Amino acid sequence: MRVLVAGANGNTASRVARQLKERGGQPVAMIRDANQRAKFEAMEVETFVADLENRTRLEDSGCGAVVFAAGSGSKTGPDKTILVDEIGAVHLIDSAMDAGIKRFIMLSSINADPWSEGHKISHYYRAKGIADFYLRQTALDYTIVRPGRLTDGPGRGTVDLAPSLGRSGEIAREDVAQVIVESLETPAAVGKTFDVLEGDTPIREALKALD
Ligand SMILES: NC(=O)c1ccc[n+]([C@@H]2O[C@H](COP(=O)([O-])OP(=O)(O)OC[C@H]3O[C@@H](n4cnc5c(N)ncnc54)[C@H](OP(=O)(O)O)[C@@H]3O)[C@@H](O)[C@H]2O)c1
Repeated sequence: MRVLVAGANGNTASRVARQLKERGGQPVAMIRDANQRAKFEAMEVETFVADLENRTRLEDSGCGAVVFAAGSGSKTGPDKTILVDEIGAVHLIDSAMDAGIKRFIMLSSINADPWSEGHKISHYYRAKGIADFYLRQTALDYTIVRPGRLTDGPGRGTVDLAPSLGRSGEIAREDVAQVIVESLETPAAVGKTFDVLEGDTPIREALKALD
């Protein structure tokens, strides 16, 4: 199945594209700048140039699933957070529905909550929470992945994963990417929202336990 990976030039999404490719899958890297193509050509990964701040047509993409792993990043202000993490995500959900793409994986965040307040980054948690809420109201086969703080270390292949973990912590982007890739292959992950932090349970086992 062809899988559109939004935010593909980013730190987590590029790992998702690479892992999909390594497993014999067909990632399609959604990038917003054609100059970012070379890195994906070197990986023999197809690219799709589009900006989440605009509505994108996915009808001709040939994709059967979408992964949203883009983000405005911590260096932009709340305006971009709303434009990318909230409205951009909603645009992509709508585009998937219009194109008849059923499977949608959302890379959200622990603490994402439409009513978040009192945190230094409540605007971010609200934006992510609103996008998650919107996705859950659709008829899409969704999975909402809520990691803690992302790190760039090596993956462990094991996690602590549950609908609510009730604690904060870290997790390697490599492991989050594997959770996303394995969610695409695990029926038990459909229709589920879960927190994920570093832990000791093999990723496949943790996802199957959601059933
Ligand atoms: N950082 C954390 O600790 C943390 C914790 C929990 C959840 N998350 C979530 O995890 C996800 C991935 O985080 P990350 O740190 O790996 O991401 P990242 O490296 O910051 O990458 C984000 C990507 O999104 C792309 N992007 C931004 N605006 C866009 C737009 N308008 N249209 C298309 N693409 C756009 C960027 O494109 P360019 O390369 O062109 O700039 C970039 O490649 C995000 O959704 C983030 O909110 C992060």
